[in-house]
Amino acid sequence: MIAVLGINTAIDHLMQVSELRVGEVNRTVHEQVLPGGKGLHVAQTVAALREPVQLIGLIDAAHRNLTARRMSERGVLFHGVEIDAPLRHCIALQDARGQITEVLGQGPELGERDNAALQRAFRRALEESDLVVISGSLPRGLAAGTYAELAQQVRAAGKRCLIDASGEVLKQAVAARPFLLKPNRDEAEALFGRAIDSVDAAVVALRELHARGVAMPVLSLGALGAVGMDDSGAWHAAVELEQVRNTVGSGDCFLAGMAVALARGEPLREALRLAVACGAANAMDVETGYVRPDQVEALLGRIQVREWTR
Ligand SMILES: Nc1ncnc2c1ncn2[C@@H]1O[C@H](COP(=O)(O)OP(=O)(O)OP(=O)(O)O)[C@@H](O)[C@H]1O
Ligand SMILES: [Mg+2]
Repeated sequence: MIAVLGINTAIDHLMQVSELRVGEVNRTVHEQVLPGGKGLHVAQTVAALREPVQLIGLIDAAHRNLTARRMSERGVLFHGVEIDAPLRHCIALQDARGQITEVLGQGPELGERDNAALQRAFRRALEESDLVVISGSLPRGLAAGTYAELAQQVRAAGKRCLIDASGEVLKQAVAARPFLLKPNRDEAEALFGRAIDSVDAAVVALRELHARGVAMPVLSLGALGAVGMDDSGAWHAAVELEQVRNTVGSGDCFLAGMAVALARGEPLREALRLAVACGAANAMDVETGYVRPDQVEALLGRIQVREWTR
């Protein structure tokens, strides 16, 4: 079983308007309310790839049913840690031209009691799982070293921890030497304080992370694919797509692919193949952070994987 910790569960509102007029009353032509957040995207993609998965994240009373129902439909075992404050809400306003204006809520601030409940839920999930994915932003009130501490617990239990984080949280996670870290290009540039504008530059960054004790650092490069490194060497995987609809959440689906392949005992080059197929499948579809297994299957044979020897 794979466990995903995606603390900052969101409620995503997609509202379509013919034309967005700032400062005026706008009426929708279509609207949708869905549970979201990066951890939730990872978990539902793992489930789509038919691997048992549980998700631990915040929930409030008003959205418990919505989230539980959606996760159950998608085959994810959801452990919601209930808080009194409202969850994070994100609003995407899309006009007839397809242009999207986003408003992202800052979400709840957690207290000591919430943190303790989350820690308990995490420890329970860790006992039941062989591999743990930690993904997404930290709610206010939790220390930047939270993921680093959790990664140490996973390592102490002799299990693998995969982390997708950014900024200070990512920086502190490196020091905890998780099994895998997956920054995207922007996140890696912020971490290293220099431009990472090619696969070669990405491999240099991976070498540094590997030398600092991250067993399998991976860097995702959008349309340029991804590179990963472990003791078998550095590998690059990519696929060229004819049509791209929505790349938001491709990193989440990519990470789900990595987690599933690693849980199945696949080597890095095969894990990258599945991960890139998942990232690409997400990009081909309008829905954020989800893949159709038949689409992933169809893409697998088209992924170019090669050892990066320079
Ligand atoms: N335009 C694209 N064409 C082909 N593959 C893509 C494209 N965009 C993304 N991918 C695939 O998805 C993977 C992850 O994408 P990306 O690097 O954009 O992640 P990200 O920035 O972390 O995304 P997010 O945080 O929104 O989930 C890439 O490594 C690549 O394999
Ligand atoms: Mg990302």
